[in-house]
Amino acid sequence: MSKTSASASPLRLGIAGLGTVGTGVIKIVQSQAELLAARTGREITISAVSARSRDKERGVDIGPYDWEDDAVVLAGRDDVDIFVELMGGSDGPAKAATEAALAAGKDVVTANKALLAIHGQELALQAEGAGSVIRFEAAVAGGIPVIKSLTEGLAGNEIARVMGVMNGTCNYILTRMEDAGLPYDEVFAEADALGFLEADPNLDVGGIDAGHKLALLASIAFGTQVDFGAVELEGIGSITIEDIRAADDMGYKIKLLGVAQMTGRGLEQRMSPCLVPASSPLGQLQGGTNMVVLEGDAVGQIVLRGAGAGEGPTASAVMADILDIARGVRLPTFGQPASTLRKARAARATLAAPYYLRMHLVDKPGALAKIASALGEAGISIDRMRQYGHQDTTAPVLIVTHKTTSSALDEAMMAFEGTGVLVDTPVAIRIEDV
Ligand SMILES: NC(=O)c1ccc[n+]([C@@H]2O[C@H](COP(=O)([O-])OP(=O)(O)OC[C@H]3O[C@@H](n4cnc5c(N)ncnc54)[C@H](OP(=O)(O)O)[C@@H]3O)[C@@H](O)[C@H]2O)c1
Repeated sequence: MSKTSASASPLRLGIAGLGTVGTGVIKIVQSQAELLAARTGREITISAVSARSRDKERGVDIGPYDWEDDAVVLAGRDDVDIFVELMGGSDGPAKAATEAALAAGKDVVTANKALLAIHGQELALQAEGAGSVIRFEAAVAGGIPVIKSLTEGLAGNEIARVMGVMNGTCNYILTRMEDAGLPYDEVFAEADALGFLEADPNLDVGGIDAGHKLALLASIAFGTQVDFGAVELEGIGSITIEDIRAADDMGYKIKLLGVAQMTGRGLEQRMSPCLVPASSPLGQLQGGTNMVVLEGDAVGQIVLRGAGAGEGPTASAVMADILDIARGVRLPTFGQPASTLRKARAARATLAAPYYLRMHLVDKPGALAKIASALGEAGISIDRMRQYGHQDTTAPVLIVTHKTTSSALDEAMMAFEGTGVLVDTPVAIRIEDV
């Protein structure tokens, strides 16, 4: 006899996208039917599926389900309660089918960060108007329940700061460069050969994918309309093995770190390479693992760590959203009604921080003094400085500054150019207090 209650009707899914995540979800629905029904009191069923190619072998039996060529048609079917969007892409069929599902009064579960980072506010408003919900746990940090933590677990906190390493590929590249002592280009090629990179690698190494995730977290954390356009983005392409070694020598690791915080001047959102203390949880993060750090006024700091991608972890997060809906949990998309989300003023990194500076100077007496004086004139004081073995006629120099603002740093960097002692463009990386 079924463990579901006699009165509860099955919850019927329509799944669009049968790739890594879509097939993972189907496997869980098929293999854990009893457990899911026991936990929700309802049977979870799949009515129909859709993808580009009907004939592709998918390693999972889709024979029992109806097939739709068009995800928009799938989204509007009468026998679909939740439209599960697992195709990807900020526009195109993912957006059209999501809108069609909401227009037809369906709930939506998606793993699509690009769609929500760009169209989240309008979709959340549409969902509210239709009495539907949109859930997107899988879109941020894969298997880590970070949306749930922020929206529910920390609902009683004013959030001070959200930080995270949320692109496993970038963290893999940076830690592999360090472990194997290999240059960026070589490790990038390795990651490509292993299939770790998106079809457009700039989504990963340019910080765009992680920036999408940060924009979503910032919206929930600060009650603001999601604004991906305001995220200051900088990828990892300019990080050299020399930087990684020098940072290590000074007790730091380099991470592609997302930071969102509300300041007096507005909402700061940045996704950029940062130095973090080697001994911190973020500093110790290895390989493709993700980590999100949440800071609330009452709870203090909590750290969530786990698999940020892959079939199982991502499908696990999609299932959590489906089960919430099956249990009758119907939260607003970004944790509060979309109509009450404020439009935040975007602020450039205004809070002072120490910086790591690396440069090559001409090997002449007085060169370093000119740099030190340019820093002094910009009001920046030096915490530590190291000069490494001279290379031919150039002298590599590392400086760790005391806390300073990004505008003072910009002023100093401009002044460096006028000194005539630089051999190449200096590198400046913010040291994040984590
Ligand atoms: N993979 C991960 O670890 C991961 C982690 C977190 C979030 N996500 C997100 O999850 C979503 C799916 O990712 P994935 O890795 O599963 O992608 P994937 O393996 O590339 O699968 C995409 C699926 O969507 C179908 N599809 C693509 N374009 C379509 C179109 N125009 N019309 C109909 N179907 C279309 C494809 O059909 P065919 O199979 O017929 O080509 C395929 O089944 C994305 O939003 C991604 O950002 C993925």
